[in-house]
Amino acid sequence: MKNDYSFLGEAKTVAVVCNQWGDTGKGKIVDFLTPWADVVARGTGGANAGHTVAWEGKKFVTHLLPSSIFHDKEGKISIIGSGVVFDPRQCIAELTALHANGYASEHLRISRRAKLVLPQHIVLDRLSASRVNESLGTTGRGIGPAYSDYYNRNSLTVGDLFHRDTFAKKLQRNIEEKIARIREYDPSLVREILFHTHLGEGIFFNDETILNRDSIVEHFTGEYAEALRAYVTDTDELIHNTVGKKHILLEGAQGYLLSIDYGTYPYVTSSDCSIEGLAKGAGLSVRDVDLTFGVMKGFYMTRVGKGAFPTEMGGEEAQEYCSKTTKDEELRTHVDYSINEQDGFKQGIAVRINGNEYGATTGRLRRVGWVDLVLLKRALHVNGMNVILTKLDVLDGCEEIKICIAYQYTGEAFFLGRDTLAHGAILTSVHPDNSLLSSCEPIYKVFPGWKTKTSNMRSYQDLPQEMRTIIDFIENETGARVRMISIGPERDQTIVVDKDV
Ligand code: GDP
Ligand code: IMO
Ligand code: MG
Repeated sequence: MKNDYSFLGEAKTVAVVCNQWGDTGKGKIVDFLTPWADVVARGTGGANAGHTVAWEGKKFVTHLLPSSIFHDKEGKISIIGSGVVFDPRQCIAELTALHANGYASEHLRISRRAKLVLPQHIVLDRLSASRVNESLGTTGRGIGPAYSDYYNRNSLTVGDLFHRDTFAKKLQRNIEEKIARIREYDPSLVREILFHTHLGEGIFFNDETILNRDSIVEHFTGEYAEALRAYVTDTDELIHNTVGKKHILLEGAQGYLLSIDYGTYPYVTSSDCSIEGLAKGAGLSVRDVDLTFGVMKGFYMTRVGKGAFPTEMGGEEAQEYCSKTTKDEELRTHVDYSINEQDGFKQGIAVRINGNEYGATTGRLRRVGWVDLVLLKRALHVNGMNVILTKLDVLDGCEEIKICIAYQYTGEAFFLGRDTLAHGAILTSVHPDNSLLSSCEPIYKVFPGWKTKTSNMRSYQDLPQEMRTIIDFIENETGARVRMISIGPERDQTIVVDKDV
């Protein structure tokens, strides 16, 4: 069946970003919209992303490659833009798996200005995780250290792969202080990290110097450069020549609340994953984007790693549990919990199991909580009012749905400069400051849930009245406009909302 994209109107450039903490199903939505597009571009993040696409019962996860890559044989151009931090080994591994599954990558284009993730970035990222006070619960893909180098004006770029001498010189300058920092950590841990599969099982290790510079130069400007040469180009030029003429789809990574500029700092990633960062990282301006969709789960949200999460089911107990438990352990011991458990901690486990909320990149348990309109309003301010609700099928049979409409501030008086936030204050809009959010109790409006199974429904009018009442409430409360609904991982489990048209 051919999809009808008339709901996109006259738009030429459309973007898909996330209004929560990531993992909202951006990959699925991009896959759904790709037949409409001529060009699909990523502009932020790196292999920290894990985007899942599913059709006919098969599932694929991409980290660096845009989700559109599975449509390469249809001539769709997939771009990795200059705002991305690019790990060549990871990209080659993804391409190898792609080809092994019979898919092509002829139309992949990688920006020569994308910033390189080097072995030292991955090592430092993973070493920070070993110290409790340094650990943010990152994905260990070298993202923070790679972006730090960029802002420190010390990056190597994809273009450098093709100039061995320049690469070696820049590497020398880059690696010196890194090695000094790496030496502050336990040598056996450093060794263990360097023998991880993400770091080529020891190919960059040297007993004396820790990192083997010659081997890095050899691999990056040799084998990796050759494998990627055909894809590398000036993607900014390519996209400038396309914008306004053909259909461009921008694929966001991470989510608004993880944005370095807007999120729950410092428990964020190191790029601006709002529409602003995405447009820029893909080589465009936000003015070029005709329509932005902010994806959110309906009516819950998830978070991987550390940081404040006011509506988390089970609160701190759940956070602690998620940091220590594996997916296998959880599935072995807790499959009998019901989505209607009275205890928030148990209910959170049931929602996680129902939604299969385990990290697509790290396999970690995703923390689970109710939709938070206080935070959503902030995301809408930047990402715009067009919203996509995903995973609504996960709450089928849930008797009560809670929507957070405000917070009560429960901490000590919080000094905001000219104003002071008093203990007990009610907040309906707040910047997601991590320490402030940590002292906020959610105030919920409780709605009756729906009993029917929704995954086979294919039109908005079919959806249960209880679900539509909650959607209307969210729209009225925030100004958002729900444009699409997803009720399963498969392409065809997608509903375009036509209620206002
Ligand atoms: P992304 O990072 O935003 O692309 O999202 P992920 O791929 O990390 O996580 C979303 C997960 O939910 C994937 O396993 C998808 O296959 C799955 N998914 C997407 N949409 C739906 C939906 O509407 N219902 C259900 N049950 N699963 C979905
Ligand atoms: P997609 O695109 C969910 C989280 C990490 C950690 C924090 C910083 O699949 O939605 P980083 O490795 O980026 O330095 O980690 O950000 N994080 C994500 N969480 N989905 C993602 O991407 C994420 N990318 C990073 O768990 O808390
Ligand atoms: Mg993901």
